[in-house]
Amino acid sequence: SVDEQVRSLLQEMTLEEKIGQMSQVNGGGPDLHQAIRDGQIGSVLNEVNVDEVNELQRLAVQESRLGIPLLIGRDVIHGFKTIFPIPLGQAASWDPQVIERGAAIAAAEAASTGVNWTFAPMIDITRDPRWGRIAESLGEDPYLCGILGAAMVRGFQGAKLSDKYSIAACAKHFVGYGAVESGLDYNNANIPENELRNVYLPPFKQALDAGVATVMSSFSDLNGVPAAGNEFLMRQILRDEWGFKGFVVSDWDAIRELTIHGFSATDREAVLEATNAGINMEMASSLYREHIPALVAEGKIDVAELDALVYNILALKFELGLFANPYTNPKDFPDLVNDIFRQAAKEAAERSCVLLKNDQGILPLSADRLATVAVIGPLADDGYEQLGTWVFDGEAHLSHTCLQALHDLVGDRVDIRWARGMQSSRCRENDGHQEAIQAARESDVALMFMGEESILSGEAHCRADINLPGSQEALIEQVAATGTPVVLVVMAGRPLTIGSVLDKVSAVLYAWHPGTMGGPAIADLLFGRATPSGKLPVSFPRMVGQVPIYYARKNTGRPPSPDNITHIDAIDGRAEQTSLGMSAFHLDAGFTPLFPFGFGLTYTRFEYRDIERSHAAIGLGDTITLAATVHNTGDRRGEEIVQLYIRDLAGNVTRPVRELKGFKRVTLGPGESERVSFDIHTDELAFHNRKMELVTEPGGFHAWIGGDSTAQLWTEFEILD
Ligand code: IFM
Repeated sequence: SVDEQVRSLLQEMTLEEKIGQMSQVNGGGPDLHQAIRDGQIGSVLNEVNVDEVNELQRLAVQESRLGIPLLIGRDVIHGFKTIFPIPLGQAASWDPQVIERGAAIAAAEAASTGVNWTFAPMIDITRDPRWGRIAESLGEDPYLCGILGAAMVRGFQGAKLSDKYSIAACAKHFVGYGAVESGLDYNNANIPENELRNVYLPPFKQALDAGVATVMSSFSDLNGVPAAGNEFLMRQILRDEWGFKGFVVSDWDAIRELTIHGFSATDREAVLEATNAGINMEMASSLYREHIPALVAEGKIDVAELDALVYNILALKFELGLFANPYTNPKDFPDLVNDIFRQAAKEAAERSCVLLKNDQGILPLSADRLATVAVIGPLADDGYEQLGTWVFDGEAHLSHTCLQALHDLVGDRVDIRWARGMQSSRCRENDGHQEAIQAARESDVALMFMGEESILSGEAHCRADINLPGSQEALIEQVAATGTPVVLVVMAGRPLTIGSVLDKVSAVLYAWHPGTMGGPAIADLLFGRATPSGKLPVSFPRMVGQVPIYYARKNTGRPPSPDNITHIDAIDGRAEQTSLGMSAFHLDAGFTPLFPFGFGLTYTRFEYRDIERSHAAIGLGDTITLAATVHNTGDRRGEEIVQLYIRDLAGNVTRPVRELKGFKRVTLGPGESERVSFDIHTDELAFHNRKMELVTEPGGFHAWIGGDSTAQLWTEFEILD
């Protein structure tokens, strides 16, 4: 068994060899080969040349004393060569199958170069679009993120870790990184334990239940204790409460940063904090190698505890089958970026796009009714920018851009006038505007591809303003002023405050950074060869000052509602809102988001009717069924993601005004309807109370079924004692 193999190997290992297993280094470097021979390295990250990877494995297996193979890590975040939409975009698909398949393809491509470990999925709940890493996240909601994150784990890890196409996944960043203050990367996070357990931890628990092999600790300081030295998180929750059997890797240099945080006085102390917390492997820095020997000699680190940390690492190497077969032959793998992978990436991009506005059904466009189309914007024909953040291995030349795809799809019937409009999304100059305006004037419709270039989101790429950067708003206004209807396609790594241009455009398709096949996916959606079905995985603020804004907010003692708000003329003459009821809202932004969580239109209309509950009251341990009928009342076939939200009316700690508790995809032709039902066991309504117990409390509940988090069709039920 793996257990016996690991135990017998541990018995043969010197202290230095054990510490070697706990050390991960960045690829390359003159001394790497010798360090591997000397048994000082357990894992290498960022080496993807298969010949070099095989050579590193050969050194480890044949030239080191004990022949222990290496873990080869890489950030395979949303694809390897075939790039899928950014994770936030994939989350907008609300489709676990799409996500699982994307991760499986990424794993197969990465494994063909010898990579056997990815640092994904990132399942940090975040409610702050200023944070650049929101692009990598699966959005604001623990339920949605948990389901999609688990799907990604299954995709990467396959049926068995030892399968050729499987790679180990890593649930990151444990935990609270998405709540960094002011959406500033690496900042501290303050999360009450109760909220930590109800909001931030559940996706990690689901990743564990899906079998995730590893966890990465966060860079951030949580309630005063940086994650890399946080015993409460890494030992109490992860190991003791959840029984995690995999291993924890620190984030890059994060153990060394414990001193910079002001948490440890010296590097040696930092190592002690990290090992006490149970960080099995150190990424990038070399403090474990430098300080563990002395700490063991001083009796501060117990060898048995060290063995326990090394155990988890060796166990994964056995489970991955690396001892049996450490080498990679690319011929055993499918071609990179093959037609099947491209088709999957296209489908993922189609499902990720969210239609936010579609006045008078301007979309889908019909090539037969258009003579000339203006294609405008810096993101229309940029194979690199459409890939998004965290793309190490994807290549711009493999991308199919929107301009190319539009030519392919309708170029034979429609005259396409292309004008970039501006050099880059950030460009403040307006030199290209005139050409774009002219193209719009001469066209029946203007398709504008605007948003953010890749570099504006991702790690360490946070923004204090989340508007359309550069001179984009001006360009949209100028193009709209020509009278030609504008269809705005936004590519971005986060929700942008597009409210100021919303009334200038007829339609908005939010495409995130859609990946390699973004162009054909978007072209098909615009011309009705595919129908949009994406739903927002995150609320869109009207103004950045509303952040954090999320649907599962608390009610407060003075909740705002349309009834307690009136309009007056402010002293400076601008109409501003005020409240008669002294309620919780911003004078200049109100209390609603620009677009709510769960929102997304399609080319038909859906109506919800006849909500029903199976019981007016149930007991603890029972299941209630909640059902409603969805009608397609439009004249096209369409897909809808039916969502169930529940509110627990009173709790030992206050409960959110709504929480997503289920969703289902339905496909309906014109005039068709379907009864959609959800079975909810009372355990699914549990939350952590003030004593941190996980309980379902008897009492009253409201339930809504509809197409987004503002669904109006509701019923109620009770849980009896
Ligand atoms: O996986 C990443 C992590 O998310 C941020 N710091 C670096 C790691 C490895 O590249």
